[in-house]
Order: sequence, then structure tokens, then C-alpha cells
Amino acid sequence: MEDFKHVPVLLKETVELLVTDKGGFYVDATLGMGGHAKKILENLDGSGRVLGIDWDPEMINISKNNLSGYSGKVKITAGNFANIDEILKRAAVMNISGILFDLGVSSLHFDKPQRGFSLKHEGPLDMRINPANPLTAHTIINKWPFEQIEHLIRTCGERFSYKIAKTIMERREKKEFETTTDLRNMIESVLPYTGRKSNPATKTFLALRVAVNYEFDNLTRGMQKATQFLAPGARMAIITFHSLEDRIVKETFGFMSRMGGWKMITKKPVSPSEEEVSGNNRARSAKLRVIEKIK
Ligand SMILES: C[S@@+](CC[C@H](N)C(=O)[O-])C[C@H]1O[C@@H](n2cnc3c(N)ncnc32)[C@H](O)[C@@H]1O
Repeated sequence: MEDFKHVPVLLKETVELLVTDKGGFYVDATLGMGGHAKKILENLDGSGRVLGIDWDPEMINISKNNLSGYSGKVKITAGNFANIDEILKRAAVMNISGILFDLGVSSLHFDKPQRGFSLKHEGPLDMRINPANPLTAHTIINKWPFEQIEHLIRTCGERFSYKIAKTIMERREKKEFETTTDLRNMIESVLPYTGRKSNPATKTFLALRVAVNYEFDNLTRGMQKATQFLAPGARMAIITFHSLEDRIVKETFGFMSRMGGWKMITKKPVSPSEEEVSGNNRARSAKLRVIEKIK
């Protein structure tokens, strides 16, 4: 097995806020390499259990290996958390003590060029979390109409969306885009670096990833469906990495607590310490929000 690492973000804070019943049944809806799941398992007693879910078969293999010391206490299953109701029913689970969503993709997705997520390493324009899905970044960039591409990039916060979409159209008339570097070079050549903290292609890459994997739709569906399975006193913890997904979580949690039956545990989102960010730059934009079903 190749050696990729992922440092779990807000690990201590998340597990402290999530685990309220040491003998409970917890769901890690974004298992990844199993870093958070391992810490949850360490905090449970003999009767506590974890169900880990990931959409990416590659992560399933890695987490099975990483959590092999916990057999009997952990069950690992492949699936999209947007279908959490079906996944839990299939596992004959009716009531859970807590659920974690650590959103987005793992460091492996960025570090492995073949997956096509990286701005730094050249790879195919892929970006699928689950490689069985039909839609790829290649299809969006080379086939979608101008209006759809411009709208997608604009809604992900890129103010030069018109210019980028127009240049994509002009370029693909002559030659299709094939690689991540191909796309990044084109964006760098038309947009200035001036005044930007990150690479000019960052927001376009984020927009593509979000669209390829229906990330906002999955999040909304996953949160809504999970609420039906939380036992009284159980918590839902969500770690986000950009303002668009954080807004969905903030608004959904706000709505839930106004409707009644839910108590906001984090009045303000929990952010990583300076120490954590200095050791793991990926943590810099993380925000943790937690809500509890009232007993
Ligand atoms: C930030 S990583 C989680 C890292 C994990 N907490 C750890 O400690 O290793 C996010 C994971 O969620 C998975 N994922 C993304 N969208 C998903 C979805 N809709 N359903 C299930 N898993 C998903 C990704 O494949 C990735 O492994």
C-alpha cells in the first residue's frame, strides 16, 4: 500500500465535543484514513462502537488497514453520506449517539496526481471522490456551456469568472484541456497574482471539485437524513474548510435550533489553534460546529 498521510484536523476538540456516551454507537460519515475514528474508538469503553463510511474505495482500503486493531468495535462501509438513511438501515442501526462529517477531501486526494485534484502536481482533469461516478472535471471544462461554467466559478467566489469561462471556451475550440497543469497555466496566464493570497486557479479548482462531487447537495441531504437517527442527547459535529460549506452548516443548525428540539453546542465555530495551523497548514480554514438533539 502506498504511504500517504492525512493529519486529522481539530482532533481533540472534535472528539471531546462529539463523544458524550462512552458506550454509544458513533458514525464517522467521512472516514478517510481513520484518524478521527481511531480517536473516537480510544474514547469509548468496551461496548462502544463506530461505523465508518467513505465514498472513495481507496480510502476504505486504507482505513481498514489503519483500524485493523479495532476489529469487532468498528465496521467500515463504502457509500455516499447523502444516502446515510439507506446505509444505516442496511446496517440495522436505528439510533446513533453521534455523527461526524469532516468535509471535503483527504490529503491523499491532493498528494496523488492521478486523482486530478492538485494544483501543484500534474494529473488528469478528474477530481472524482468516487471514481465510479460518470462526471469528471474534464467533462465540465470541455463540454459544459459557457453560462454553466461561468455561473459555477462565480458562485464559488471567483470574481474573474467571466474572463476565465470565456478563455476556456476560446481555448477548447482549438484543443481540449487534458491536465490540471494545462488548466492552471491557462488561468495563471489570464489572471494577475496581484492582491491574491493564493494561486489564481484556486477558486476554479474548488468549484470544479464541488460540482464533480455534488458536494453541497450531499451535505444538505446528509445532514437532514442523519437528524432522524440521532438519539436524544446525541450530537452532530461538522468540520468545514471553506465559507460556502460553512454557511450551509451554520444556516441549517440555526434553522434547527429555532425550530426547537436542538441545542447549539458551539455558539461560535471552533477554529484550530495557531500551534495546530503551524504544524498543519491544511487546518488553517477549518471550522467545527456541533449541535445536540435535546433529551
Ligand atoms: C477530510 S477527509 C476525512 C479525514 C478523516 N477524518 C481522517 O481523520 O482521516 C474527507 C473524507 O470524506 C470522504 N467523502 C467526501 N465526500 C463524501 C461523501 N459524500 N460520502 C462519504 N464520504 C465522503 C472523502 O473521500 C475523504 O476521505
